[in-house]
Amino acid sequence: MAVAVAASILTADFGNLYRVVRKLERAGVDRLHLDVMDGHFVPNITFGPNVVAAFRRLTPLPLDVHLMISEPSRYVTRFLEAGSDSITFHAEVEEPMAIQREILEEIAAARRQPGMAISPDTPVKAVEPFVDLLGIVMVMTVNPGFGGQRFISEAAPKIAEAKRLLGGRPGSAVHVDGGVSSETADVVGAYGVDVCVVGSALFQRGHDTEMEIQAVKRIAAAGAANGPRD
Ligand code: DX5
Ligand code: ZN
Repeated sequence: MAVAVAASILTADFGNLYRVVRKLERAGVDRLHLDVMDGHFVPNITFGPNVVAAFRRLTPLPLDVHLMISEPSRYVTRFLEAGSDSITFHAEVEEPMAIQREILEEIAAARRQPGMAISPDTPVKAVEPFVDLLGIVMVMTVNPGFGGQRFISEAAPKIAEAKRLLGGRPGSAVHVDGGVSSETADVVGAYGVDVCVVGSALFQRGHDTEMEIQAVKRIAAAGAANGPRD
C-alpha cells in the first residue's frame, strides 16, 4: 500500500512561501498540512483562514488544515471558505460533544474531509463517538504546539487502533503527525499509516527535500509490508 506524504510548512521559510510550495510540488509531496495555532489551546500562534486562502491560490495540492485551537466551532466556516480540503480539530477541545458533531457535519456537508486529532496522551477511544462522521483520524506523535520535536514512539501503536476504528471505509485515512522522518517512517508504516505528516525533516539545513520525501514513502511502505516489530 502506498503511503502519502503531507508537508507541514510550520518550519518553512515564511518569507518565501511561493518558492516553498513550488519546491514541495516538484519534490513530490501529495498534500500540504497547515498548522493553525491560537496561543490558547497550544502556547504557540501561527496563522488563520486568510493564510490558508493564500495557499489555496498558490497550489492545487490538497490542503489539510490542522486546527490546534480551543473553539473550532467559531472558525470552521471561515476555514471552509478559505478552501481547505480537510479540517481536523482536536478531541481534547472543551466544546460540548453535540457541537463537535455539528462541526464534523458542517465539514462533511461542504464535501470536505472531517477529521479529529488525538494528542499523545489521548486514547483512540476519545474519537469513537464520532466515528460515523470521521474521514481522518490524526494520531499525534508529539505534543501539539511546535515543529521539530522528538517522535514519541509510545503513541505510534494508536495508528493501528485508529485504522481498525475507521474499518477501511472508502476515503478514510489515518494521518500521523509529529517527528516523522526517514528515521521513524518504518514504525509508522508498520502500524498501517496512510498519510505521514512531515515538517522539519523537509526543511532542515543540509536536508534534500525530495530525497527525504521519497525516503519516507519508501521506508513507510516497506514498514507496512513487514508489519510491527515486536
Ligand atoms: C505540531 C504540528 C506538526 C508539526 C510537524 O504541533 O501539528 O504538524 O509541525 O513538524 P515536525 O515534522 O517537525 O514534527
Ligand atoms: Zn500538524
